[in-house]
Amino acid sequence: VLAIWHQLTKAEIPELAKCSVLMRERSRVEETIYAMQRAGAGSLQVISDFDMTLTRFAHNGKRVPTTHNILDNQLLIDEDCTKKMRELLNTYYPIEIDASRTAEEKLPLMVEWWTKVHKLLISQRIRKDMLAQAVRESSAMLRDGYKVFFDRLTEQQVPLLIFSAGVGDVLEEVIRQNHVFLPNVHVISNYMDFDQTGVLRAFKGQLIHTFNKREGALSHAAGLRALQGRPNVLLLGDSLGDLTMADGVSQHQNLLTIGFLNDQVDERKESYMNSFDIVLVKDETMDVPNAILRYIT
Ligand code: TMP
Ligand code: MG
Repeated sequence: VLAIWHQLTKAEIPELAKCSVLMRERSRVEETIYAMQRAGAGSLQVISDFDMTLTRFAHNGKRVPTTHNILDNQLLIDEDCTKKMRELLNTYYPIEIDASRTAEEKLPLMVEWWTKVHKLLISQRIRKDMLAQAVRESSAMLRDGYKVFFDRLTEQQVPLLIFSAGVGDVLEEVIRQNHVFLPNVHVISNYMDFDQTGVLRAFKGQLIHTFNKREGALSHAAGLRALQGRPNVLLLGDSLGDLTMADGVSQHQNLLTIGFLNDQVDERKESYMNSFDIVLVKDETMDVPNAILRYIT
């Protein structure tokens, strides 16, 4: 039976045969895809990270900004703040992706990074009504094929939960300006809290960083009604921390995880292959998720 399945996926989802696609257990992936296909779109939900998962990692050799880095604009912050945010990025990003440290070791350092950056941003008295322009002026960019991805999910009425440790207000503006902030899209992220005059004064709720998505999932995702009664989960991420985004799904039947391996490829390949069902190496497109969705919905 497995041999027949294998031929089927090859014929139905040829994208999985690309050399940038790594799978430790191809047969498990195939079984999961078939089970999801049999259950259909009505049983499916998609949970995705945002920065460097739905957005590109780089374009024409230049890094694409994350939602935090989109705020690095003279409209919103001064030169000194820009300098400090970049220093923090240069200090903490290498730690975030360091293959030689465990998530437990990284956790307090990520809290430190986010806390310092949010404090800096609050000190800048950022204006809500300037965010849209900052996003327009930025080089923010969703992955190639994003439109097919969002449209397919909308057509099939499959809910998409975007779960991001970035800045929710900026994230929403990015997807709005790309015309994909559709009714089936739900967002869990760090939202800005503005005072009555529209000036940033705090961040709302409990901080979400790369390695505490489990807590966020348990407290928020479980309460999202649109996601309930959908036991099959397609999860997309670019960090090992993203794997816990589905922890809020009670009684999931099938979980298929796709990891974008954008950076430090040789150092992290093994751990990504041991953790995600499908690993996409330096793939700036949504081709593989789109092909899987085309097949299962
Ligand atoms: P994500 O959960 O949507 O991927 O967002 C988190 C990413 O944001 C994470 O990979 C680190 C990145 N980040 C920045 O680029 N700059 C910052 O100042 C902070 C705090 C995080
Ligand atoms: Mg990410």
